[in-house]
Amino acid sequence: MDAGPSYGVSPGAGSGRKSNMNILVTGGAGFIGSNFLRMSVPNRPSDSFLNLDKLTYAANPANLAGIESLPNYQFERLDIADGKAVGEAFSRFLPDLVVHFAAESHVDRSIRSPGDFVQANVVGTFQLLEAFRTHSAARPGALFHHVSTDEVYGSVEGDARFVETTRYDPSSPYSASKAAADHLVRAYWRTYGLPVRITNCSNNYGPYQFPEKLIPLMILNALEGKPLPIYGRGLNVRDWLFVEDHCDAIWAVVERGKNGETYNIGGNCERANMEVVNTICEVVAEETGTPVVELKKLITYVEDRPGHDLRYAIDASKIAAECGWVPKHSFKEALLETVRWYRQERAWVDGVRSGEYLRWVETNYGARS
Ligand code: NAD
Ligand code: DAU
Repeated sequence: MDAGPSYGVSPGAGSGRKSNMNILVTGGAGFIGSNFLRMSVPNRPSDSFLNLDKLTYAANPANLAGIESLPNYQFERLDIADGKAVGEAFSRFLPDLVVHFAAESHVDRSIRSPGDFVQANVVGTFQLLEAFRTHSAARPGALFHHVSTDEVYGSVEGDARFVETTRYDPSSPYSASKAAADHLVRAYWRTYGLPVRITNCSNNYGPYQFPEKLIPLMILNALEGKPLPIYGRGLNVRDWLFVEDHCDAIWAVVERGKNGETYNIGGNCERANMEVVNTICEVVAEETGTPVVELKKLITYVEDRPGHDLRYAIDASKIAAECGWVPKHSFKEALLETVRWYRQERAWVDGVRSGEYLRWVETNYGARS
């Protein structure tokens, strides 16, 4: 009989998490999940990691090249909306900790294909909660950590900022599906006492982000001399956070947070889109020697996104006070690091731009459903 991990804490105490955990990560082949695994797997050799990922267009096995052969890492291609497959994976692996990243994550795609978002984000989260309830919840110190977004709060007025009790007011099918998932997670805490925690994070950027999102798209287009499409007038404000800071924040909540609680995560770095794109032009100009004026000429104003939230702004004082987390990276330095990464990692960029990574997945894992 497995005695479970040696946390030395009672279930729900929420601190002192130590070693020998079975850690199930969903969506670990995507942007944030793969950064989380690359930071965690080599540094936690006595924990075992299982990455469940459907390998959608947003997943790239190249993101995991550095860890896939490590003995404490396993991968399984699986759709989290498939309850039978999820239940089987949980019954085999018996996770102590679930870190749930998997989601359809791009707002523009949710406007075109909302059904995919309901399946992955709502049904998928429900199936994971059910499997966790059946196979994990009774394990000492078990925890379901749900990774969510600040978009559930909708657009914030004036100079107010989102706190954890701000009323949910999602604007897109993406944010509505994440809000529904958050509600399910919270309901499982209140109804079944399932040990859960939720984090709602602002916009991430950094290496390995798929270039459909603002920052990587603008970096690559600027490097390639292509148009830089800004929706509407470019006045929408987002709060930017380097991806490694987000991953650290998740560990801070896992180790020092409390069950049933929600924590906002943000970079204290509000920028209008126009400002972000101008800064990217300046950094790319410095790095490549291209005159900045030539890069700024690439800026093109295009039709606005329907239901486009004007401003997101996070108050991250709860996670700072209760879990001791604050972001370590400044926007200017981390953006420079990100631009350099996209310049250097030509094989990754070419694989994504050409669609080669999709063919690689089909050859090795079969067609995408
Ligand atoms: P991403 O789109 O880069 O990666 C998502 C991953 O989930 C992919 O590997 C994909 O294959 C997998 N996936 C999708 N549907 C699946 C399914 N049905 N079954 C199994 N796997 C599936 O997303 P990301 O930017 O890394 O975001 C990860 C999480 O963080 C999401 O839950 C997102 O809502 C949240 N989040 C993202 C940001 C951001 O700025 N990117 C900010 C706050 C919160
Ligand atoms: O706030 C957290 C959210 O941040 C996450 O939950 C989402 O998964 C993530 O995709 C991101 O959502 P956004 O919609 O804010 O990110 P995106 O990069 O798509 O857009 C950022 C801003 O830039 C937004 O105001 C729309 C604008 N934009 C975006 C693109 C892709 C443009 O002006 N032009 C573009 O081409």
